[in-house]
Amino acid sequence: MSGELSPIDRAKFIAAKRSIQYVEDGMRVGLGTGSTAAWMVRCLGELVRKEGLQITGVPTSTRTAELAKQVGLRVASLDEAKWLDITIDGTDEYDANLNLIKGGGGALLQEKIVATASDQMIVIADVSKQVEQLGAFPLPVEIIPFGWQTTKTLIEETLINLDVMGRSSALRLDRDQPYRTDEGNYILDLHLRRIGNPRQVSLVLNQIPGVVENGLFIDICDIVVIGHCDGMVELRDINNGTVTQDRIEIAESDNLFSDM
Ligand code: A5P
Repeated sequence: MSGELSPIDRAKFIAAKRSIQYVEDGMRVGLGTGSTAAWMVRCLGELVRKEGLQITGVPTSTRTAELAKQVGLRVASLDEAKWLDITIDGTDEYDANLNLIKGGGGALLQEKIVATASDQMIVIADVSKQVEQLGAFPLPVEIIPFGWQTTKTLIEETLINLDVMGRSSALRLDRDQPYRTDEGNYILDLHLRRIGNPRQVSLVLNQIPGVVENGLFIDICDIVVIGHCDGMVELRDINNGTVTQDRIEIAESDNLFSDM
């Protein structure tokens, strides 16, 4: 089965499989959202089944909650778990400081709350997510539906004074209707192309009435696990300032994904 994975899926799987080595018995684990995080949830399910670890998973979306239950993980809400040992999630972009753009999958609000309520956030990615400067990926901003067009105008006007290269934004659609987040909100995707000062952009955006949260994760991620399709993994730890390499073998028994 694993032989049928595309190179990009192999890289995501390799990162996911390496990341679960950070999970220990008894931990409360934040479960990210997206295709890379989905590999991680499956790997974690397999680990729990094989080794009988007592893990509590706190999902960051209804999609992830469904998958986690499907693979046999014990699932709790953040209010039940209160504080987490670790969160493992994907990303849309990461830079050298391990600042991130997230929310391509629409789950940025719960993802940010859960990651912030964790002792450690591990990001799993393939190397295509690595950028010199954030902003090529459109920045998702979750907004309240009430008065959304006014909020959009306010955001675009605010961007004039910020160090970004583009200022257009688009309401995310689901077919011909506005995309709705798990909280029932809308998402505006900001086409900034280059974000000179991500910290400032994040702070300023969150002060605009109607904005719930933005997809910039500043000083939240501790470690990025970068998977390569040949099995090589790079681990960058921003707190220790270390970069180490490891190798993950895909075994025939890694037949986790026959339901995909
Ligand atoms: C979900 O809202 C996002 O933050 C995802 O974590 C991000 O889009 C990465 O997704 P993939 O792993 O599918 O690329």
